[in-house]
Amino acid sequence: MSLIHELLKARYGADIPNVGANGNTTAATLINHRSVRNCLPDKLDAGVLELLVAAAQSAATASNIQAWSMVAVEAPARETRRATLARNQAHIITAPLLLVWVADVSRLRRIASLLGEAAPELDFLESFLVAVTDASIAARSAATAAESLGLGTVYSGALRDQPEKVAEELKLPQGAFPLFGLVVGKPAPAKPSAAKPRLPQSVVPHREQYSTAGEEAGIAAYKPLIQKFNTSQNLPFMDWKSLPVGHVKNAEVPGGRARLVESLSNLGYTVD
Ligand SMILES: Cc1cc2nc3c(=O)[nH]c(=O)nc-3n(C[C@H](O)[C@H](O)[C@H](O)COP(=O)(O)O)c2cc1C
Repeated sequence: MSLIHELLKARYGADIPNVGANGNTTAATLINHRSVRNCLPDKLDAGVLELLVAAAQSAATASNIQAWSMVAVEAPARETRRATLARNQAHIITAPLLLVWVADVSRLRRIASLLGEAAPELDFLESFLVAVTDASIAARSAATAAESLGLGTVYSGALRDQPEKVAEELKLPQGAFPLFGLVVGKPAPAKPSAAKPRLPQSVVPHREQYSTAGEEAGIAAYKPLIQKFNTSQNLPFMDWKSLPVGHVKNAEVPGGRARLVESLSNLGYTVD
C-alpha cells in the first residue's frame, strides 16, 4: 500500500481507493498532520524561522494587503512570558519557538495616515475578517513548511483567554489582535504523536449543495474510531458528539474568550 493510502487509513479508518495523489509529497505532508505536544527543548536549526516566515508570506492574501503580523517568541525569559501567552500549557513552555499570529490592520492604518488618507473601511467588520483569514492562511503555510521539515507543531488558542495581556507583553499596537499561537519544535522520539481520525468525507464536504443526508450515519461511524484513538493515546473516554456541545456549554470556557468583543474594542477593532 502506498504512503498516501496508509495515511488515509489512519485519518479515516479506511482507505479512499480512488484518491488521485500520484506520490505527491505535499499532499502526504498535509494528510499526515498531527498536533505534537511533546517536543524536545532543542533550539531549531539556523534559518528555519526565516523559511517558515517565507512560506507564510508566500500564502495568498486578500487583495495582497497582507493584513497580518507574527511575533516569534524564543526569548530566554520565556517561562514567564509564556505563562501569559499560553496559560502555562507545558508543551508551550518546553518548545523552543512560539509563533503568535496577529490579525493586523494597524500597518494599513499607519500607511493611510502617511498618505494623509482617512481609511474608515478599516473599522468595518469585513476588515477584521480579512485580517483573520489572511493570518490563518499564512500560519497554515508556516505549519506545513515546518511539518515538511519533520518538525512538530501545535496551535494554541489559549492566548485568547487574555488578549489584552498578550498584546501588552508583545507590545502590539492598536489594531493588532493576537489570534492564536503556533508552537514549533523537534518531536520527542520517545513520545510520538498519532494522526487523529476525522469525520468521514460523507459528513464534512458537500457536492454542489449542502446536504445532511449522510450525517447521522457518518457521525455514528466516527464514534468507535475516535474512541480507539483516545484509548491509544491514554486520553479520557469521551463521545465526540459531546465535545462541541460541551465546548459551548462548558463553564470552563476561559473568561477572556467570553468577552472577546470587549477585547477587540480595547485592542482597536470595531466589530459592529
Ligand atoms: C486555532 C487552534 C487552536 C488550538 N488551541 C489548542 C490549545 O490551546 N491547546 C492544545 O493542546 N491544542 C490546541 N489546538 C490543537 C487541536 O486540539 C487539534 O488540532 C485537534 O484536536 C485535532 O488534532 P490534530 O491536530 O492532532 O489532528 C488548537 C488548534 C487550532 C486549529
